[in-house]
Amino acid sequence: MPGKYVSDSYQITPGKRILIAGGGGFIGSHLSKRLMEEDKYYTVVADWADNIYYDVDTYCSEFHKFDLRDQFLSDLATEGCEEVFDLAADMGGMGFIESNHSLILQNSLRINLNLLASAVKHGVKLFFFSSSACVYPDFKQHGIDGDGGEIFTPNLKEEDAWPADVRSNAYGFEKLVAEEACKWAAHDSTVLEVRVARFHNIFGPMGTWKGGREKAPAAFCRKVLCNETTFPMWGDGLQTRSFLIVDECVEGVIRLMRSTCSEPTNIGSDHLISMNDMATMIMEFEGRTLEREHIPGPQGVRGRNSDNTNIKEWLGWAPTPGAEALREGLRRTYTWIKEKLELELSEGIDNRADYSGSVIFQGKADDDGETVRSGKV
Ligand SMILES: NC(=O)c1ccc[n+]([C@@H]2O[C@H](COP(=O)([O-])OP(=O)(O)OC[C@H]3O[C@@H](n4cnc5c(N)ncnc54)[C@H](O)[C@@H]3O)[C@@H](O)[C@H]2O)c1
Repeated sequence: MPGKYVSDSYQITPGKRILIAGGGGFIGSHLSKRLMEEDKYYTVVADWADNIYYDVDTYCSEFHKFDLRDQFLSDLATEGCEEVFDLAADMGGMGFIESNHSLILQNSLRINLNLLASAVKHGVKLFFFSSSACVYPDFKQHGIDGDGGEIFTPNLKEEDAWPADVRSNAYGFEKLVAEEACKWAAHDSTVLEVRVARFHNIFGPMGTWKGGREKAPAAFCRKVLCNETTFPMWGDGLQTRSFLIVDECVEGVIRLMRSTCSEPTNIGSDHLISMNDMATMIMEFEGRTLEREHIPGPQGVRGRNSDNTNIKEWLGWAPTPGAEALREGLRRTYTWIKEKLELELSEGIDNRADYSGSVIFQGKADDDGETVRSGKV
């Protein structure tokens, strides 16, 4: 299918100066590396923390350690950039999201409103915002447990976001507010256009894998590697999600930016899996047979999946469907985390007992990038 919003008017201009806010983070660093290497863009990364896996000049052209809650620094980062990719957020996996509502709402809202204002002020042409599947209404994600243990899980389409009901998590509420801020900024401007992606659980190598901000795929890989007999898991494991490898997420972001699609667009896999089945999939990589231990903990909504009907129609593209793509992505993530563990062990550091479970991480208003990245908070 050609794609309703596919356009050939977008110009790839080597040397084009673009800002990747939050580019020191997981998705932002993958995106910056790709745009710098393939399109030869001049990628300016602004983040309050260094990326701990890449040397700075291997993934961006210029790095600024800026706290983007500060409007002055947001302006400074944006000046002279033709495009802004906003991937900066105070965020983490379910354990973090459910324990830091106020911090997330205040910090991320400040960042996003600052960046939008800076983009308007400096005549930026194209603004990308990284929204989330968490914007979808609570009442569409309760799931219904069937008699045989099967669970009804809704495929969430873009139009499902309204009428809104995001009372259960400030993270999703903030994303919805920022989506609207983007929409109205573009509406009121003769220059600015916006693209909004709703990511559904992105994972892969070079992502957070310990400390309390990590997401389920990385946490599960770490727990399989660090336990001998049991596999502790929050909830009954019947919660469902879909997961997308970061390379495909980056591909989707770039395609969206080069399209004329100003609608918020799902970027996610439509392969649904329960947490129990994902744990089994990861255990199978090395023939592990850990017994699942279901313990109380944050679980988020009961279930959700990405509906990819619109992205196929709008961009003529969608992430690779099916279980095999997930298995391969998890295998790469598992191998990468195993290497990190082996490196620690070779340096005489054995944290396996600490890594065998998951911790709840409570941030504070006076945290800065250093404390967050080093996990000292
Ligand atoms: N990873 C996912 O599964 C997922 C799902 C849905 C939405 N998203 C969104 O995608 C974007 C990127 O996510 P990610 O997984 O790469 O997360 P990440 O935490 O790795 O990246 C976010 C970056 O923002 C930076 N940041 C936070 N506060 C800042 C501040 N005050 N000033 C400057 N930089 C600051 C962090 O240091 C970090 O490097 C975020 O907006 C996130 O909400 C991610």
